[in-house]
Amino acid sequence: MDYLKIHNVASLEGTINISGAKNASLPLIAMSILAKNSVHIKNLPQVVDIKTLLKLLSNLGATCNFLDDRVIVNTTSLHETKATYDIVKTMRASILVLGPILARFGHCEVSLPGGCAIGQRPIDLHLKALEQMGAKINIKAGYIEARTPNGLKGCEIIFDKVTVTGTANIVMAAALAKGVTSITNAAREPEVVQLCEVLHASGVKITGIGTAILEIHGTDGKLLDIEEFSVIPDRIEAGTYLCAGAITKSELTLTNVEPKHLGAVISKLEEMGSTFTITKNTITIHPSIKIKPVKIVTQEYPAFPTDMQAQFLALATQADGVSIIEERLFENRFMHVSELQRMGADITLNGHTATVNGKMDLCGTDVMATDLRASSALVLAALVATGETNVHRIYHLDRGYDSLEKKLQDVGANIQRLKE
Ligand code: UD1
Repeated sequence: MDYLKIHNVASLEGTINISGAKNASLPLIAMSILAKNSVHIKNLPQVVDIKTLLKLLSNLGATCNFLDDRVIVNTTSLHETKATYDIVKTMRASILVLGPILARFGHCEVSLPGGCAIGQRPIDLHLKALEQMGAKINIKAGYIEARTPNGLKGCEIIFDKVTVTGTANIVMAAALAKGVTSITNAAREPEVVQLCEVLHASGVKITGIGTAILEIHGTDGKLLDIEEFSVIPDRIEAGTYLCAGAITKSELTLTNVEPKHLGAVISKLEEMGSTFTITKNTITIHPSIKIKPVKIVTQEYPAFPTDMQAQFLALATQADGVSIIEERLFENRFMHVSELQRMGADITLNGHTATVNGKMDLCGTDVMATDLRASSALVLAALVATGETNVHRIYHLDRGYDSLEKKLQDVGANIQRLKE
């Protein structure tokens, strides 16, 4: 198993190129199940989750040629319709194949994803919406068994909660359904927007893209002709490196980034004292003199993302004053707190709210990554902790950050990947 050895640095300097978004790539790869042609996808991040989904599709009979940041997925030879436990247990987003496989083949089995470190993460809303579209669903021996005896039919779906992969799943199912599906309370995340835009460009009429009400005009089983496209930049990776700039009071420039997707993150960093120069697809964060405390509530896009909560919590340990961070999406997403406390952070947890007393001098030690974003919070803390920090179990980090240690080394961080 690999771990990261990190020493603190006076400051960082230079340019970091942002990779394609993991959370956009996953539904876009799953979408290739709806295509009659080979789907060319560019600007994919080199992360384990992408390889896992491509392996899942290969196991089902698709061919996936992955070279650098490009993949060509051909699902015309896909014949298996069962996503087995061995893959789904390593990546919950495997559930994204349910909608498209069911829509194309009329049946699908997917292992139940179960809970994960940050919460229970049910998929009841995905299943309820598919049932409304005419699917018969049974849960048997840990598997979701879905069938559509009469094909999927468009209908009116109202999500009780905003669900990102739930919206993506239903949009993909609706793309091949008969008639019009409307989704009220749809996710507006940029990753869902890109999925809708690519489907729309492939002949599936979708209205309301980027709003909470989507209307998808299904093709009644006709497979799609999907043209080559490039995945949007990863806003969470970008946000994490902006936090690296803020916590080390450094000047860093991010390239291949979409500033529009980072509104809430940039605004909170401004409240904390950072200043920016922003162009169409670059963001430069300038060194701040002092880090100010902040109040954050995680919510759905375009509000502050839960996927940036852990990184801001690490940053708040270096603010002069008391920060309050409330997590509203996932019930157990504070696993990084106890590790940060071991480094000397003064954090009090009360239910879904963390109170961070800054500024605390952090001290390097051995810490354990517990989930993807928690891992990057520990890396950020290590950049300013005295002495040496060893971040263990970084397989979490490798699921979603493309070449993290290389990107940080290139801007002057003292970080090495070693074997346990
Ligand atoms: C996606 C992202 C993840 C991000 C999250 C919230 C991907 C691959 N993952 O996860 O990085 O942290 O959005 O922005 O894109 N819920 C239900 N029933 C359901 C579905 C969801 O109760 O059927 C609840 C969840 O428990 C959670 C909330 O709805 O409290 C939002 O979850 P959801 O948007 O579905 O998260 P994911 O799509 O799994």
